[in-house]
Amino acid sequence: MSAAAAASAVAAGQPLLVASFAEWREAARDLLVHAVPPELVTWSQPGAGDLFSGAPAPMPDAATQHPSISLDQTRPAPHVPRSLMDMLQTAACCRMPDRWAFLYRVIWRWTQGEHDVQSAADADGGRLHSMVKAVHREEHDMHAYIRFRERPEAAGPPRFVAWFEPRHDVLPQVAEHFVSRMGKVSWMIATPDASVLWDGATLHNTGPLMSSAADLDDAGEALWLTYYRSIFNPARLNTQVMQSHIPARFWKNLPEGAIVPNMITDAALGARRTGQAQAVGRKSGATIPIAPADAQPERQQPSKLDECRRCELWQYATQAVPGEGPKHSPIMLVGEQPGDQEDLAGHAFVGPAGKLLDKVFDAAGVERRGLYLTNAVKHFKWEPRGKRRLHKTPAQREVEACHYWLDKELAAVKPKVIVALGSTALKSVLGTGSVTLKDTLGKPIPHDGRWVVTVYHPSYILRVPDENAKQQAFKVMVDGLKLAQELLERPPEEPPA
Ligand code: URA
Repeated sequence: MSAAAAASAVAAGQPLLVASFAEWREAARDLLVHAVPPELVTWSQPGAGDLFSGAPAPMPDAATQHPSISLDQTRPAPHVPRSLMDMLQTAACCRMPDRWAFLYRVIWRWTQGEHDVQSAADADGGRLHSMVKAVHREEHDMHAYIRFRERPEAAGPPRFVAWFEPRHDVLPQVAEHFVSRMGKVSWMIATPDASVLWDGATLHNTGPLMSSAADLDDAGEALWLTYYRSIFNPARLNTQVMQSHIPARFWKNLPEGAIVPNMITDAALGARRTGQAQAVGRKSGATIPIAPADAQPERQQPSKLDECRRCELWQYATQAVPGEGPKHSPIMLVGEQPGDQEDLAGHAFVGPAGKLLDKVFDAAGVERRGLYLTNAVKHFKWEPRGKRRLHKTPAQREVEACHYWLDKELAAVKPKVIVALGSTALKSVLGTGSVTLKDTLGKPIPHDGRWVVTVYHPSYILRVPDENAKQQAFKVMVDGLKLAQELLERPPEEPPA
């Protein structure tokens, strides 16, 4: 039965099988335009006994039609306010055996002019409010208590896997939440009824892939392959595009590389052998590991920061965070890398470290809008700690890879003075690790035709527990900013006074 033919089905004495809110809404609309009252409708959902398994329901027959349902007469589809539809949609996630019947009773009453049905004081309204509350609570709990487990990189995607047993059907909206929180890193959330998989760009829904938390331990290649099979769509197969996205020589090292050729051939009903099947699936021989750095010269240099693949950090970040400030600011501040809030906002120094910097600027009499603010590394590097993303110091190779972008900024902005915030920035700016932050505080360094001034990183001040040390570090930062301004008047060839 199609949901649009709901009234005919009810007239013929058939129950309505509904699996989602969208199906319920379509069915309810058809029932409302045919003025079918709730007491005549039997609703059911998949898994509710054997009622709907086996032979398809018979087609409606005029002789068996319910006498009080007139299929010839319709009335205009009623207008239902957005606020009520939103409540109904949320309540539909509540696992109650009679959820569809209940929602229909509510909407029916509303269309009969009983607008109290939306109020918590009404018996049905009260139940509706409780269902909405229960669903929101479950969403909150799933956000708060889900635990992603990191899998070894060598095991292939997904990088993080979590198991959760939600009490209500909140997986789709919770998945959207994690899409917005976890950037491009791949992850999977498995529940007893369904799984969602984020591959870094697209969210895929599949049936259950795990049966308990114990499966997390071997949520390895087999799991990924099961998933890959489940989303493989032969109708959308374009072997040329597949090969150009992933050059054939890499396929044999990918977990799905081993099964893709077979699936492709199966899709072609065994009649044709594809490029991958010949080039990869049947190829024997040793695996030659290729370091990303060696593969780099084959690729074009990225033209936009967001396209950067010079190191691996892009995979885990929400977005690249560019530097910001006047095109030709005389002073450039270089931090380490964006933090959690910068990663989400796409702007540098908007989180707690940025707020502290604002205080330093005030104390030094400098205006933030006159400065160019950037970072040595443009993607947020983090590690999961429960549901939080904790900052992780970038590796030397990541700082070096990102120097490409800092060079571009220096060439464009042409600052006279660089203020390096902390030792990662200092190493990046000088291109060497042989100078320490401690040795250079208060001692400007002439470098590449400009001055480099070093100060603490603002996060150091936020972290240091001792109040005296905090104040001293703050003063070092303020003095550094004042020094940077003084140096604008002094050419860097002259040794500092
Ligand atoms: N820390 C940094 O180094 N840079 C930012 O943008 C934010 C925090």
